[in-house]
Amino acid sequence: MYVVAAKGLTKYYGALCAVDGIDFGISKGECFGFLGPNGAGKTTVMGVINCFMPPTSGEVKVFGIDVTGNPSLIKSRIGVMPQDDSLDPDLNVLENLIVYARYFDIPKKDSEPMARELLRFVEIEDKAGVNIKGLSGGMKRRLLMARALINNPELLILDEPTVGLDPQSRRSVWEKMEALRAKGVTLILTTHYMEEAEKICDRVAIMNAGRIVTIDTPVRLMSEYKGSLEDVYLKLTGRPLAA
Ligand SMILES: Nc1ncnc2c1ncn2[C@@H]1O[C@H](COP(=O)(O)OP(=O)(O)OP(=O)(O)O)[C@@H](O)[C@H]1O
Ligand SMILES: [Mg+2]
Repeated sequence: MYVVAAKGLTKYYGALCAVDGIDFGISKGECFGFLGPNGAGKTTVMGVINCFMPPTSGEVKVFGIDVTGNPSLIKSRIGVMPQDDSLDPDLNVLENLIVYARYFDIPKKDSEPMARELLRFVEIEDKAGVNIKGLSGGMKRRLLMARALINNPELLILDEPTVGLDPQSRRSVWEKMEALRAKGVTLILTTHYMEEAEKICDRVAIMNAGRIVTIDTPVRLMSEYKGSLEDVYLKLTGRPLAA
């Protein structure tokens, strides 16, 4: 059984078709990447999987549960690292985690030690008492990752987790993702970095204009199209391979 299974997933925003009838299945423990140009529909797909919004049509099941059937049960088992910074600027780093834990009914006596452990995991434990305004962009991304882990999720959704990170921090995020996968956590990410997708994704779905143009392992795609993953991406999203 798939952790996430989508059949005919379609999402309209008013008259705009953002996701146009896509099918995919993501297995337990897999690291699955959604690639595609700006506006391809990646974040919209994440939003449907994490029950932020329902699909317009089609069927999406997470842990075998329909996203329109029992969203709160699904949400309790998912961690989400959003594309945008959604941290509370009125709270410090540690408080951001503790307040977020309340959404999952985690009492403060449990959430505080957990929050401190997660800050250690993402290596910003020295920033626990610092206001959000005092964090660099990369530190905010780390805190968002820690926040996504507060409910010990079985499925972690990461929307551009390494955007704006320096090369060393990016590598460190890859290591965290590896560590989580080693624990059996299923990972779904979006990225514009082909090197990242190649390194950490078991399979990728390349999206364009709301559709999935291919799903496969990076290795198989590169061998089929005789080029780098970036070549494959450019070809499949409409730009020709360089001669
Ligand atoms: N809340 C919204 N209301 C209206 N249109 C939206 C909304 N969110 C996204 N869209 C539109 O839906 C389409 C898909 O957007 P989406 O954010 O899913 O793309 P994306 O692949 O995540 O892009 P990016 O790489 O820039 O993050 C775009 O045309 C976008 O303008
Ligand atoms: Mg997006």
